[in-house]
Amino acid sequence: MRIVVLVSGSGTNLQALLDAAADPSYGAEVVAVGADRDGVLALERAERAGVPTFVRRLGDHATREEWDTALADAVAEHEPDLVVLAGFMKLVGPAFLDRFGGRTLNTHPALSPSFPGTRGPADALDYGVKVTGCTLFVVDAGVDTGAIVAQAAVPVEDDDTVDTLHERIKVAERALLVESVGRIAREGFVIDGRRVRLGRP
Ligand code: GRF
Repeated sequence: MRIVVLVSGSGTNLQALLDAAADPSYGAEVVAVGADRDGVLALERAERAGVPTFVRRLGDHATREEWDTALADAVAEHEPDLVVLAGFMKLVGPAFLDRFGGRTLNTHPALSPSFPGTRGPADALDYGVKVTGCTLFVVDAGVDTGAIVAQAAVPVEDDDTVDTLHERIKVAERALLVESVGRIAREGFVIDGRRVRLGRP
């Protein structure tokens, strides 16, 4: 199974996938890594692993729609079966979802439907929940609203800061991502016991 991973940051989720995919029995291969910005550690990780990279910056395009199409074009060049947003900090739009909807996964550092958006760990701390976690889901047009593929619970400790909590969530996120993508590669895409065809929704 061919995977394109989109990133914006430190790339520890990407690294976990690269490490897992180094074993051919994993069944999935990271064929390219794309970013919306230069100079991020995630791109270095890809280069170190010998995986081709591309960058499509929103600011280089006249409109968001043009950027979205350019991003989809760049992804399409690598003919992925599955696209994984791993800390990709932009919302993909209709042009992207028209081509990759139903086979694009995202990981969110909270237990959906709680705490959508970019402040998942901070919002969980502010609310005072005692358990939070991470959610792997199929990307749709909303913000962290798509069909849930898998979740893992993570305890909140009394002395947590946003950073310590987020780091604990990220440990669970990496394991969930690697386990779920491996299962999809081996068994196909199954949500709630129903087989979902990889491809257009
Ligand atoms: C993850 O917690 C992801 O859910 C969030 O940003 C973090 C990315 O971490 N959106 P990394 O770049 O994979 O290290």
